[in-house]
Formats: sequence, C-alpha cells, structure tokens
Amino acid sequence: MADLHDRWVAERRNEHYYKLAKKLNYRSRASFKLIQIDNRFGIFKAGDAVVDLGACPGGWLQVAQERTWPNGRVIGVDLRYIKPLEGVETFVGDITEDSTMLELLRRFGGKADVVLSDMAPNIAGHYCMDHARSIDLCMYAVDVCDRVLKKEGKLVMKVFMGDMFPSLKDELEKRFQSVKVHSPDASRPTSSEVYVICQGYYAKTNIKLRKPQVEEKKPEFTVKGGFI
Ligand SMILES: C[S@@+](CC[C@H](N)C(=O)[O-])C[C@H]1O[C@@H](n2cnc3c(N)ncnc32)[C@H](O)[C@@H]1O
Repeated sequence: MADLHDRWVAERRNEHYYKLAKKLNYRSRASFKLIQIDNRFGIFKAGDAVVDLGACPGGWLQVAQERTWPNGRVIGVDLRYIKPLEGVETFVGDITEDSTMLELLRRFGGKADVVLSDMAPNIAGHYCMDHARSIDLCMYAVDVCDRVLKKEGKLVMKVFMGDMFPSLKDELEKRFQSVKVHSPDASRPTSSEVYVICQGYYAKTNIKLRKPQVEEKKPEFTVKGGFI
C-alpha cells in the first residue's frame, strides 16, 4: 500500500515539474534539478564559463545561461544533436572519446568555472550494470575537470548510487575541498540518481592526466599546462 502511495506521489511530482517546464519554456524537467541545486549551493555567478556534459535536450544549458548572465559562456556536448540555443555553443560528441575532449578544449580555449554532468548511460534495467556505467561516465567527467577546471572551480554531477560510489567519492575528495551528495526535490524519489556537488577544485597537482589517443592536427589552441 505504501508502495502504491509513493508511486502516486512520485507521478504527481513528475507531472508538476513537466507542466512547469512547459509553462516556463524549459527544454526538460531536469532544469528544476539544477535550479534547486544552484539555489541551495550557489553554483553559478555572472560571467562564469560553464561546460555541460550530456546536455541534450538543453534544460541545464538554459539554466546555466540564465544564471551566468550577462557575460557567461556556456558550452554543451552530447551524443545527440542539441537544437540550437541562442548564445550557447553545442556540439555532438562522445565524452569517452579523445576527439571529443580535444574538441571541447579547442572550442573552450580557456578554463572553466563550472563543469556540469547530467550524463546517464542507456538504462539496461540491470542495477549493477547501470551503476557501473554511470560511475564510468562520472570518471570521464572527472577527467574533463582535470583538463578544463580553474582552481576553486565547481563540479555538479549525476551518479547512480551503488557500491562503487565510495571509490568515486575518494577521487573527488582528492580534487575538491568540499564534496556533498544531494537529491533535489525535482529528482524522482524512486530513482537511484543523486547529485554530487563538488566545490573548491585544488587544481591538478599530483594527478596524472590520461594522454589523448588521437593526433592533434595543428595547435589551433593552447591549453595552459597542456597534456602530460
Ligand atoms: C538526462 S539526459 C541530460 C538532460 C540535460 N541535462 C537537460 O537538462 O536537458 C542525459 C544525457 O547524457 C547523454 N550521454 C550519455 N552518455 C554520453 C556520452 N558518453 N557522451 C556524451 N553524452 C552522453 C545522453 O545522450 C543524454 O542526452
């Protein structure tokens, strides 16, 4: 009975955020998760440079753009094509591929204040597999941080909870002064997804970066420190 009631509450909540997203012209319900996270943790400030991983259809991009207004710079990447959003740069890419990492750096041409990742694997419906794939995507997001995040930068990242989470948290704690786990009201209460809010990036010191496996055609951009 409690189960049925929980599902009813969850569905009503989903419907509420779905309708609100339509009304406010957000591309996805997910926008409200980021709004709630920002309201609570103060992620964005005007003028921030933001990289959004797994950004399609663009709900988080819209929020990032609004909250870094007027001089912010927002870039989104996804496996899927993102319909153009004025003032936001987007491109299609797989974050597990080095070519995407290089494209991100080429387009970004600087250091980020915030990295966002709402990336989710295709759900297999097998809890352990979905969790492992989610952790894998999170490690790629951490890799992006090690390349583009400024000292004191922030990371907001989705993860499906499970037994590999402590080792991900260890990796995050090596890099950030503060690592908090949070579940915004707009998340489905039945979902295993949580968000990790990481603040105060130490800047890479003793972290060894993975060398990209693709050749750079020509040095169209320079990244301070470069790849090692
Ligand atoms: C929950 S959706 C993101 C919703 C988005 N934050 C929004 O507000 O509209 C997760 C996205 O992660 C993307 N994704 C999953 N694996 C990826 C990968 N390896 N590289 C890039 N994007 C990926 C999926 O294509 C999907 O669009």
